[in-house]
Amino acid sequence: MKTVHTLADLRALLTAAPSAPVFVPTMGNLHEGHLDLIRQARAISDSAAIQGSPVVASIFVNRLQFGPNEDFDRYPRTLARDAELLAGAGCDILFAPDEAELYPEPQGYKVVPPPELADILEGAFRPGFFTGVCTVVHKLFNIVQPRAAVFGKKDYQQLMVIRNMVRQMGLPIDIVGGETMRSAEGLALSSRNGYLSDAERAEALTLIRLLRGVQTELRASERLTPELLQRCEESAMAELRQRGWAPDYVMVRRQKDLHHATADELAVGLASTPLVTLVAAKLGATRLIDNLEV
Ligand code: PAF
Repeated sequence: MKTVHTLADLRALLTAAPSAPVFVPTMGNLHEGHLDLIRQARAISDSAAIQGSPVVASIFVNRLQFGPNEDFDRYPRTLARDAELLAGAGCDILFAPDEAELYPEPQGYKVVPPPELADILEGAFRPGFFTGVCTVVHKLFNIVQPRAAVFGKKDYQQLMVIRNMVRQMGLPIDIVGGETMRSAEGLALSSRNGYLSDAERAEALTLIRLLRGVQTELRASERLTPELLQRCEESAMAELRQRGWAPDYVMVRRQKDLHHATADELAVGLASTPLVTLVAAKLGATRLIDNLEV
């Protein structure tokens, strides 16, 4: 694997490659979940139709997507370890620009996603987050010019927002969703799990237990209604609060656009309107998100 830090070095490598890359953008501090995305990218690039595509990963902690009181400064930077892990997972090129390389001047042009996708759920609690994400991802897409890019389903709304950006902007990139990797007990792997104490790590399993509870209840229900969904959300929120969490939301939404399913859609059933439960909650100082399709 080659590690490059400048656009010029990256371009030189990509120009020499036989075909367009498969890309996995990250912010580093990698875990098995990221490595699984790299393996997925490797499999895409090794598939017959697009032989010879290098797998490119980027590591860039993108200031634009962090709010003023978020963890930009303390976000772990672990480049040497990340590079070893990426090489072991089958990555060909690591692009790790510094801020001056990616934002040589203040980024005045931004990619602003539509409010109906980006101002709900995560966007409601992290104003400007998806503008920061779309701006850097669009920029990285322009630089790397991948044929396909892999994003984790752990960031369910991010994946949806990026898919929509790619479609509306006419970018010729296949967006592939990678399944969430979990610990043996069910905790969704996340770079932010490193902030948790041992006791918090055990408590964090509450999220997947609640998500599975909602999934079981809705799948078993003879008649889905908006009121039932709301009861599930409220009881999960109440349990989180009672256990000492500060939940931002627990919401059961349509998979396709993360909006509420209508009573008519629910009456027809999950097969025609698949749902997903999404949760975001703070445990101590650490904000965790997770989701489970119903
Ligand atoms: O999911 C992430 O790690 C980031 O939001 C991304 C897509 C790398 C953009 O900075």
